[in-house]
Amino acid sequence: MLSNNYLSKLDIKKILLKNLNSITGSQAEQESQIMISYLSKSENNLDINNSEIDKELINKILNERVKGKPLAKIINEKGFWKKVFYTDDYTLDPRADSELLVEQLLIDYKKNNQKHLKLLDLCCGTGCLGISIIDELDNAFCDFIDVSEHALTACKKNIIKFKQQQKTKIFHSNLFENYPINRLRNIDFIVCNPPYIPTRNYLNLNKETLHDPRISLDGGKLGMDYYVKIINFLISLKFKGVVYFEIDPIITKNMYKFLLEKGVKIVYKKTDYLNLDRLIKIKFPTI
Ligand SMILES: C[S@@+](CC[C@H](N)C(=O)[O-])C[C@H]1O[C@@H](n2cnc3c(N)ncnc32)[C@H](O)[C@@H]1O
Repeated sequence: MLSNNYLSKLDIKKILLKNLNSITGSQAEQESQIMISYLSKSENNLDINNSEIDKELINKILNERVKGKPLAKIINEKGFWKKVFYTDDYTLDPRADSELLVEQLLIDYKKNNQKHLKLLDLCCGTGCLGISIIDELDNAFCDFIDVSEHALTACKKNIIKFKQQQKTKIFHSNLFENYPINRLRNIDFIVCNPPYIPTRNYLNLNKETLHDPRISLDGGKLGMDYYVKIINFLISLKFKGVVYFEIDPIITKNMYKFLLEKGVKIVYKKTDYLNLDRLIKIKFPTI
């Protein structure tokens, strides 16, 4: 670990890499950069003046990381899309996979940038999806729903951090339970990354993933519980907007079968950077 106060930035990096290699493998380089940036409170670690780095704190972080706690859960932040979001023990750390939802939505709506768009980020966690989207669409407004009050506290922190108070509203609700129905009827699109890990798989997840709250991951017996509830509700409402769901190869077979049975139209599906099923955009029957 780090003991000498006169170590250069390069020395610090070497020590970090040596310690991180055994636990994070190919991620070691990236994590060491994030740590150095975090500790020097700089967005760009190339500009760091070595004297700015707090060696005591870096030792503390490294100790926790070596014990297997994810870096985002130690430093309470995680980069997503174009921003660094606050995250904590009560939220799912934003994942790079989910950036596909932001990217695709922006492709669909950036050309309509003048139109007032009403978005709902359902199962919002940190709010990383909704915040990233409205940040790039001048006239878009976003409601956020989560059942976890703690997650909503984190979401609020991010809304304030990125100065989006004027374009956002938070609802504490079990799915649509406490969300005004007339408000829902006026939503143009819902973006949703629900818990979707089948319970059996949840119990076998790796130790690092288990630092995320179970309520953000466990999607019931087949991983379909949330999709089924959400889709059935929107069908009964004859919802006119579209839904962008994050999905996973683990549930796609059951998902497509369910959508077919319900007469729900798949507008398109997309795969992520690993070529895995990751996104579906759907529309509901209106008659
Ligand atoms: C997979 S996480 C997604 C978080 C965030 N949207 C993201 O993409 O990083 C799922 C979220 O759903 C929330 N959640 C679980 N059950 C819920 C329910 N019944 N109603 C609303 N939100 C729920 C969890 O608290 C968690 O924040």
